[in-house]
Amino acid sequence: MYLSLIFFCFMTALSHNIPQMERNAGGCVTLPCKYNRSAVEGADGTLDIEWTVKNVTDPLIWLSGGKVFKNVPRLSPRISFVAHNSTTGDASVRIISLIREDSGLYHCKVRKGAYSNLIHVNVTVLDMFDPAVVVENITEIQKNVGESVILPCGYNQSAAEGAEENVDIEWSIRKQTNFTETLICQSTVCKRNPGMSPRISLVSDNDTTGNASMTIVSLATADSGLYLCTVWKGCHILHQNTVNVMVLGGKAPAVALLSLYVFITLAVCIVLITLLFLGYCHFRKIRKTNCMKLSYGVNDTKQLLQLYEDN
Ligand SMILES: *[C@@H]1O[C@H](CO)[C@@H](O)[C@H](O)[C@H]1NC(C)=O
Ligand SMILES: *[C@@H]1O[C@H](CO)[C@@H](O)[C@H](O)[C@H]1NC(C)=O
Ligand SMILES: *[C@@H]1O[C@H](CO)[C@@H](O)[C@H](O)[C@H]1NC(C)=O
Ligand SMILES: *[C@@H]1O[C@H](CO)[C@@H](O)[C@H](O)[C@H]1NC(C)=O
Ligand SMILES: *[C@@H]1O[C@H](CO)[C@@H](O)[C@H](O)[C@H]1NC(C)=O
Ligand SMILES: *[C@@H]1O[C@H](CO)[C@@H](O)[C@H](O)[C@H]1NC(C)=O
Ligand SMILES: *[C@@H]1O[C@H](CO)[C@@H](O)[C@H](O)[C@H]1NC(C)=O
Ligand SMILES: *[C@@H]1O[C@H](CO)[C@@H](O)[C@H](O)[C@H]1NC(C)=O
Ligand SMILES: *[C@@H]1O[C@H](CO)[C@@H](O)[C@H](O)[C@H]1NC(C)=O
Repeated sequence: MYLSLIFFCFMTALSHNIPQMERNAGGCVTLPCKYNRSAVEGADGTLDIEWTVKNVTDPLIWLSGGKVFKNVPRLSPRISFVAHNSTTGDASVRIISLIREDSGLYHCKVRKGAYSNLIHVNVTVLDMFDPAVVVENITEIQKNVGESVILPCGYNQSAAEGAEENVDIEWSIRKQTNFTETLICQSTVCKRNPGMSPRISLVSDNDTTGNASMTIVSLATADSGLYLCTVWKGCHILHQNTVNVMVLGGKAPAVALLSLYVFITLAVCIVLITLLFLGYCHFRKIRKTNCMKLSYGVNDTKQLLQLYEDN
């Protein structure tokens, strides 16, 4: 019985290439472990799921009698089952806020009665997160302090839904040329950036809607920067794009005030000049009328004189 089980595990390990997953420190990873749901439903006994990693003796997370247990303090707050109900054929787990020590060969064991399944995943966490900037697809966005913004990130929904692997959505910000910080792993907001974490969220909690856009509310000038959206599908990048956000700071009102001041001054000047001009014209008009009256008078006199002479 045990021999056949060991043989079965050995065969499973051999027949599948072990997925190699490379992730960045601070990011997140979903370790896939799907099992045959109908076979599990048909089997007697209770469902046991257990996740272990090669160089740690205790199991990291396990399900037994319908309850979830965790036993490795380093990982416990950061590891969880993806499916809320583990009888759905999905025993995948997600690890967030990855650190370098999370690297290792992970094993997922699913057992119920005669049914047994073993899956391996090799995870490597890279030390410093420095992904290349995506230059082909940069969206430029300009906003004012206090406004909200949606940073776009769309991916192929049908490509995300298919196959075994899960989708991991990751948003990060690059503030200096060589420093990038993870903001969101899936729907989990990383708390490492306390000024920003309460103000950011994904527009959708659902992994497979094809919309991984992120919302930032109450923008501050410090939010300016280059944002990167990465959608992982297992070991591969499904989609990646960059959004350059420019938050126009407290200068904006000052500029507005200045232009208002200039506008008012100009308007006053124009009115004054117009008044002066009108006044001058009026003055000239009066003089002209007087002259005309005068000349008319002269003409009158002349006419009178002529009339007088004629007579
Ligand atoms: C799942 O298990 C059922 C019942 O044992 C079997 O008929 C079916 O072929 C299995 N499916 C896969 C994909 O292995
Ligand atoms: C899990 O789902 C199954 C069927 O979908 C249901 O019978 C069971 O009560 C659920 N368990 C929990 C803990 O929600
Ligand atoms: C486990 O082993 C990997 C290398 O396989 C190593 O990078 C990692 O730091 C180890 N983790 C612990 C907790 O010792
Ligand atoms: C796991 O990944 C590490 C680092 O990339 C590599 O050295 C190791 O050989 C891999 N192990 C397996 C079993 O694939
Ligand atoms: C660029 O990114 C936007 C936003 O995610 C996306 O809608 C668009 O399809 C991308 N374009 C290309 C050429 O990848
Ligand atoms: C994603 O959803 C938001 C909010 O519903 C919407 O404004 C945006 O246009 C959508 N983006 C894509 C790429 O579908
Ligand atoms: C989306 O993915 C599906 C399945 O992989 C593929 O058939 C389709 O061409 C893709 N669509 C786009 C717009 O890339
Ligand atoms: C960025 O690079 C510069 C010089 O290459 C280095 O001095 C600095 O410490 C680096 N910053 C980070 C956050 O790695
Ligand atoms: C996620 O979206 C897909 C497709 O829109 C839908 O079929 C699925 O039920 C949704 N899942 C959740 C948990 O809302």
